Amino acid sequence: MRHLLDTRTLSRDDALRILDVAEDMRDTQSREVKKLPTLRGKTVVNLFFEDSTRTRISFEAAAKRLSADVINFSAKGSSVSKGESLQDTAQTLQAMGADAVVIRHGASGAPHTLATSGWISAGVLNAGDGTHEHPTQALLDAFTIRKRFFGDDSRGRDLAGFHVAIVGDILHSRVARSNVWLLTTLGARVTLVAPPTLVPQDVSAWPVTISYDLDQAIASAPDAVMMLRIQLERMNAAYFPTEREYSRRWGLDAARMGSLPTGSIVMHPGPMNRGLEISADAADSPRSTVLEQVANGVSVRMAALYLLLAGERPTTHPQEEAR
Ligand code: CP
Repeated sequence: MRHLLDTRTLSRDDALRILDVAEDMRDTQSREVKKLPTLRGKTVVNLFFEDSTRTRISFEAAAKRLSADVINFSAKGSSVSKGESLQDTAQTLQAMGADAVVIRHGASGAPHTLATSGWISAGVLNAGDGTHEHPTQALLDAFTIRKRFFGDDSRGRDLAGFHVAIVGDILHSRVARSNVWLLTTLGARVTLVAPPTLVPQDVSAWPVTISYDLDQAIASAPDAVMMLRIQLERMNAAYFPTEREYSRRWGLDAARMGSLPTGSIVMHPGPMNRGLEISADAADSPRSTVLEQVANGVSVRMAALYLLLAGERPTTHPQEEAR
């Protein structure tokens, strides 16, 4: 794997390979092997032009657990404020020895530009670009679904037969887009649930069913309900019902939790707007996988870095190296 830019072009085999290597990574950590030597001597640069808690910190943790050196770059406080371009910023970091660049950028397509422009030779991992994609989020979500439903028997399994409802601000959500492509590649059925104004115009080309009614979607017994953050910073009055109306019609609360089938799980990529798209009852319930998603994110990002930087067919299996 040379880069990880999206899930739309990720094959089923490549997706399962990342998820299965993430299982190995998780196993080594659960055996209290703090660090693997795999990426010793490699340098991973976290290049973040937008804010992040989970993604940036878990990429950093993942790289360190593989013994890579990590350079954290945040656009705030950097020479970007003096007008330095993406090209010059990236080439500066490459000159400092970057082997992989993890990039989050407000512009859809920035990671593709970095990967295909020839500006740098490092592998590129998309950590979220505009409203386009957030591939490692979708991979950790798929990993979490597999883990909740198959436990230790997850390896090699796809999600055929699963039904996932993705609920909320689809219009602005790179998480929704990456999940739609990955979940359907893995065989799952996806229903998008949103107010009509928060559904993208090109959605008819997506392999999904659309619903404007959360209660109806819940009555169809999804295995997983993935709530999305309402991106209030990107809203204007044309898009959004009032917060009160949104919460009443599209928020997941205790009453709706009670209508979900036994065994259905509740997901959220974070950060959450508690009391808006998800109530505290739902976020903190035993069905909620919110913190599992965060923990699984480290294993999935370890797998992605490993496959990018240690090669497609490592001679030593991660579990062997840990011994
Ligand atoms: N889910 C997610 O991308 O969270 P952060 O913005 O905190 O990285």
